[in-house]
Amino acid sequence: MKGYGPETFGALNAEDYDLLHNPGTTGAAVDLLADISLGQRTLELAIGTGRVALPMAQRGCNISGIEASLEMVAKLREKPGGTAIPVTMGDMSEVRAEGRFGFIFLIFNTLFNLTSQEAQLRCFRNAADMLEPGSAFLVEAFVPDIAQFRDHRSLKPKHLDRNSLTLEAAIHDPVKQLVEYQYLRFTPDGIRMTPLPMRYAWPSEIDLMARLAGLQPESRWGAWDRAAFTANSRMHISLYRKPTGS
Ligand SMILES: C[S@@+](CC[C@H](N)C(=O)[O-])C[C@H]1O[C@@H](n2cnc3c(N)ncnc32)[C@H](O)[C@@H]1O
Repeated sequence: MKGYGPETFGALNAEDYDLLHNPGTTGAAVDLLADISLGQRTLELAIGTGRVALPMAQRGCNISGIEASLEMVAKLREKPGGTAIPVTMGDMSEVRAEGRFGFIFLIFNTLFNLTSQEAQLRCFRNAADMLEPGSAFLVEAFVPDIAQFRDHRSLKPKHLDRNSLTLEAAIHDPVKQLVEYQYLRFTPDGIRMTPLPMRYAWPSEIDLMARLAGLQPESRWGAWDRAAFTANSRMHISLYRKPTGS
């Protein structure tokens, strides 16, 4: 999407982000992530407003982040404990945080914010380079559902009440596995447009990217409570390990 860079998501969404996404599945995500993280130097790629990183830090996790958006980090810094979390600014497919980590994670479909296969693979390689041998990289992403598109397009009402209507319009490019969304919120004050391009990848392709980066697939769950991943799962939480001696 022309004019949409790594910093655009935050510029458009930072203001309402926590209102829309917390709590949701935050509690369950923090339980699993803190369980893996405790005792390990941990890095969250695309740490955002600290929705998950802050409660992890409160539980004693040693956590740092990488983030592209100054607006999202400003929201993190406003919260109690938010100034104590080191954040490296930049594109998570390229920028390195200092030192090596015992656990790295990238959640909430954010791998798909990288809109080409090359950028996603670069991100895996970057994460693998920052991991200590023997340590894990965790990715949470949705399972693509391209049946929702008709003629490569979709239009869905997402929310309505007496004074507002939110529509999600999307155009799908099956060759690039790219979906360009436009969220339209109609209120008596006017229309607000929030674009979002996403490059989806199947779980099998994500496993292959991990392998190309030198990581071994270890576990896959269908929910944050570690429920089994099945043919009906709409999301996955996948854990990859860097072999010892690599
Ligand atoms: C859906 S939010 C997730 C934030 C946080 N991980 C959470 O779970 O609440 C996506 C985040 O990715 C950041 N982001 C998008 N592209 C990025 C990139 N290339 N490098 C670093 N951060 C990026 C956005 O600024 C935003 O903070």
